[in-house]
Amino acid sequence: MEKILTGLQPTGSITLGNYIGSIRQVVEYQDKYDSYIFIADMHSITVPQDPKELKERIRSLVNIYLACGIDPNKNKIFIQSENEFHANISWLLECSTYYGELSRMTQFKDKSKKSQNFTSGLLTYPVLMAADILAYDVDYVPVGIDQKQHVELARDIAERFNKKYGETFKMPQPLIAKEGTKITDLQDPTKKMSKSAENKKGVIMLLDDLDVIRKKIMSAATDSEMLVKYDPENKPGISNLINIYISLTGKTIEEAEKEFEGCNYGTFKKQVADVVIEFVSGVQERYNALQNSNEVDKILDAGRDYTRPIAKAKFEDMRKKMGLGR
Ligand code: AMP
Ligand code: TRP
Repeated sequence: MEKILTGLQPTGSITLGNYIGSIRQVVEYQDKYDSYIFIADMHSITVPQDPKELKERIRSLVNIYLACGIDPNKNKIFIQSENEFHANISWLLECSTYYGELSRMTQFKDKSKKSQNFTSGLLTYPVLMAADILAYDVDYVPVGIDQKQHVELARDIAERFNKKYGETFKMPQPLIAKEGTKITDLQDPTKKMSKSAENKKGVIMLLDDLDVIRKKIMSAATDSEMLVKYDPENKPGISNLINIYISLTGKTIEEAEKEFEGCNYGTFKKQVADVVIEFVSGVQERYNALQNSNEVDKILDAGRDYTRPIAKAKFEDMRKKMGLGR
């Protein structure tokens, strides 16, 4: 079975857009691939974090993924910082990476512009990501388009290391999901639904109160045509609600349009809200049960114990080839 590795940054809350555009795919992958999922907590500290909040977000993020259908029997789930070999491998790789390569990364250029006092971790971030990937000889790395450049850098570093020290790493490939459904902001449907939006009325968080979710959907911006038709260009609000509806029900656009023929927008929105609430309430029920149990500790212990020896062996192999130690 081919191997796949997904890294998740424990930042912010998870939106319905994240679920439909990303988590759903990860859930599908678990039946097709030997899947590794980890929380990239060491990546998150490249920018300032509150330690107490970070710790809570790590546990919460794992539980949200589990509540959304990630099966701990089909995935190795672990926390990056609990497997110290990622950082060890990263250092060895840093010494095969050029400053110029790192300073040319688009994400580094964007993020370093925002502050005068950025950390060197922000610069070396892609090398740690390369270590995450190369430690396990994975075949594919599912990433958004913004992370593709980092996976390509991992390939360059791997190739350079293999040439210099002998075959050590498998060449990973970025797996860019086919243009997934993009969910837009309910208040401004021309913008992507994003957890960092200023106006939270347009953003559905998976952990929002159910009443709040219903209100957000009922007050979603639409148009004055009173026609439930999929037309993202001219009817972005209605099309977005159709996207949400079909994503959660598995229906087609045509089926949804037919179902809501002649309906007014209030009735249509109520149906969408019912479907979203049915889905979210299931997620929240599972999430709350997980938050109140120590299930996640068992899962993370098992993930750590499974992945540590693999990453350790890779580190030892590199160390030996590089002439380090005795
Ligand atoms: P972000 O929360 O922006 O870091 O994104 C994490 C993942 O969720 C990425 O794969 C995004 O493509 C996906 N995602 C985030 N927001 C949306 C959205 N509104 N619609 C679809 N996918 C999204
Ligand atoms: N950099 C990724 C992001 O911000 C997270 C990440 C860290 C990652 N290490 C990884 C993703 C390894 C895939 C593989 O989303």
